[in-house]
Amino acid sequence: MNTLDSLDVTGKRVLVRVDFNVPLDGKTISDDTRITSALPTIEALTSRGARVILASHLGRPKGQADDAFSLRPIADHLATLVDTQVSFCDATIGSEAEAAASKLKDGEILVLENTRFLAGETKNADDVADGLAALADVYVNDAFGSAHRAHASTDGVARRVEEKAGGLLLAKEVDYLGQLLGSPAKPFVAILGGAKVSDKIGVIRSLMSTADQILIGGAMSYTFLKALGHSVGGSMVEEDKLGLAKELYDEADGRIVLPRDHIAADAFSNDAETQIAQDEIPEGTMALDIGPDTIARYGDLIRGAKTAVWN
Ligand code: 3PG
Repeated sequence: MNTLDSLDVTGKRVLVRVDFNVPLDGKTISDDTRITSALPTIEALTSRGARVILASHLGRPKGQADDAFSLRPIADHLATLVDTQVSFCDATIGSEAEAAASKLKDGEILVLENTRFLAGETKNADDVADGLAALADVYVNDAFGSAHRAHASTDGVARRVEEKAGGLLLAKEVDYLGQLLGSPAKPFVAILGGAKVSDKIGVIRSLMSTADQILIGGAMSYTFLKALGHSVGGSMVEEDKLGLAKELYDEADGRIVLPRDHIAADAFSNDAETQIAQDEIPEGTMALDIGPDTIARYGDLIRGAKTAVWN
């Protein structure tokens, strides 16, 4: 992988794909870790006189503009963290974005509007990849959290820009993962969450060859549990992946560890009535988190580990 050092960036427009998919409470960023994690790359480029253009998705706005997912609050927050001019463009590609990029001075930053306001982003469409490439003399991917998606801003654009590299965050994570998946100190425990088993098939299969235990949390637990014959009430389940979940569970030969108790709620809401459900989740409720016994059991396994990876 090319690194930032291999690039000549002074005076050039450097399009950086970052992962600013931060949690929001309305317009307030409730955790800015993903923004601060991108600062080393951003600052390495601005300090070398690059004209930095930042592209990111935020949420899943379904291919059209939706103010709830605008990157403007993120640009405002970034401006408080860096020592240079940060501007924001209401467009992601096209003449407005190109004009904003051409106004940048060396060392300044432009934040583009949400890439997923464009219908072609998640389809890796030519028009979006071309539009992003038109903004870039150089392309840098520092969006480790999105690097598994073949979208226009992560894949299509990278195929169109000749001068390119992985950013410092991407390189660091790839380095860590390489060490961990190569010869991790044992016991090696992996913690996997998220909504979809289908998003994690590759990770689960890869971890099976090295991890001693794969602890499952999040909504994907309920696809596994339903596949194993448990009642899951109204919990989120990928119905068309039950067969796959059973197959992965059997292949893992006891190394996939599932929650046994759950926080079940009558609604996905801050005011929901909650209860702790053991084993089976009652009808009329949905499981939204692991329960206290599972927390204790997972805690013991993690404390006993010499290597832990949290996905
Ligand atoms: C994430 O938060 O997992 C990444 O930003 C990717 O987001 P996505 O799952 O909506 O593609």
